[in-house]
Amino acid sequence: SGKAKILYGCDNCGIELSQWWGVCPKCGVGTVVERGPDMSDVNPKRGAEVSEAAVRSWLPHKAGSAVPKTLAEVNMGRDQTDWRIPLAGLFGMEVSRVLGGGIVPGSLVLVGGDPGVGKSTLLLQISANIAEGSDSDKPSPVVYVSGEESIEQIANRADRMCITTDNLYLYSSTDIEDIFEKIQPLRPRALIIDSIQTVYLREVTGSAGNVSQVRECTSALLRFAKDTSIPVFLIGHVTKSGDIAGPRVLEHIVDVVLYMEGERYSSYRLLRSVKNRFGSTDELGVFEMSGMGLQAVANPSEMFLTDSNTESDVLTGLAIGVMVDGSRAFAIEVQALCVAGRSNARHVNGIQESRADLIISVLQKQAGLKLQDNAIFLNVVSGIKLSETAGDLAVAAAICSSLLEFPLPNDLAFIGEIGLGGELRVVPRMDKRVMAVAQLGYKRCVVPKSAEKLMAALDTDMIILGCKNLKDMIYSVF
Ligand code: TYD
Ligand code: MG
Repeated sequence: SGKAKILYGCDNCGIELSQWWGVCPKCGVGTVVERGPDMSDVNPKRGAEVSEAAVRSWLPHKAGSAVPKTLAEVNMGRDQTDWRIPLAGLFGMEVSRVLGGGIVPGSLVLVGGDPGVGKSTLLLQISANIAEGSDSDKPSPVVYVSGEESIEQIANRADRMCITTDNLYLYSSTDIEDIFEKIQPLRPRALIIDSIQTVYLREVTGSAGNVSQVRECTSALLRFAKDTSIPVFLIGHVTKSGDIAGPRVLEHIVDVVLYMEGERYSSYRLLRSVKNRFGSTDELGVFEMSGMGLQAVANPSEMFLTDSNTESDVLTGLAIGVMVDGSRAFAIEVQALCVAGRSNARHVNGIQESRADLIISVLQKQAGLKLQDNAIFLNVVSGIKLSETAGDLAVAAAICSSLLEFPLPNDLAFIGEIGLGGELRVVPRMDKRVMAVAQLGYKRCVVPKSAEKLMAALDTDMIILGCKNLKDMIYSVF
């Protein structure tokens, strides 16, 4: 404690600070440099000494090293709460929107998703976007740390994506302490860790990827982010079995949780925010994976519609429903084909056979549809399994559309369960489903009559069509 307190200052706005920050918390532009007691720049050798102490403070520590602080102490130099790092271009705007309007300095963001969905691609693009956006006479680097791929592999990918910035640093490492030591002198504008399952802390037992490693590493990165105001992005794999060491363990530690989704045979990728301490959740970004990385989709409503450009191309037997999976809602496309004069055969794919049977029977009996002597083919596009009764109405609408050879308008979605009497019933998370299709650009939505008022009160431009039963639906849509 004999050591004099080290002071810091911004080289742009000149604010004095008691701690080092990656980006000036006051003006958001300047670089924070170490200053002597008279606020002159100190000789750089002492920087190394400080770094070590800083690195130690981000590692897991016992109680005692931190003390309670007053509000004033905590808030000192922290009046940057509204300031966010902007992202440029269409791609950047789409990512920004999902994040709630840009990247919050010092935030810890988890990006989860199935292996191969495009997480590394997304983060490499975000890195390049931040790096390119930095002031050219004050270049602030972005560091992309990968424990998954060699830096040559990443550079190769960057090359294919035509990323040329000089401000992007690649580093291959899995040792958190080593990562802190190496990147601190670079004072980056953002740090990416690909992936949280590959990094480890020396003092925590177990190999990388186990629960305690994943949790402790995330906590250390959180301290680093808060302490330096450098935003940190973590990539986390989710396995099909909902792996315990996967990102779900981390959701309560981090500030923001984004999930990236995509179907195996589709080039569309959805980026969804399921937790956000700085903005609303339920934000959805829509991208298309191209040969040059991810491109923002300007008009997402088109993504589920086959050849929607010309009237004559509109397909019959196609209806949009909405599924909820965990905390996430997404639109699905149901296809039906009724072929008259054939056997009564049913070919069902992606829908429970008994459920399909029930819907067909109710359509016949309660809505008077002449489905007998029709072979009926049902399919949920992209190989999704429709496991919820919320999709009943979309299945019924698809069957009606095929039987009546009437293409459904391509801005219309269907939400609701069908009862044995042909009545439409409310399903859980109605609001979430309506919001999901609204975000995708759909303009009208058929819902059970009893949910009409509530859904119409939601903050969307969606036109809500409340229907009591199947007959009602057929009259108002066909
Ligand atoms: P990747 O980002 O490695 O996925 P993750 O990190 O989630 O495991 O990318 C996965 C797929 O994306 C890979 O199969 C190749 C494809 N891809 C493209 O189609 N275009 C591109 O420009 C890039 C970089 C990848
Ligand atoms: Mg990857």
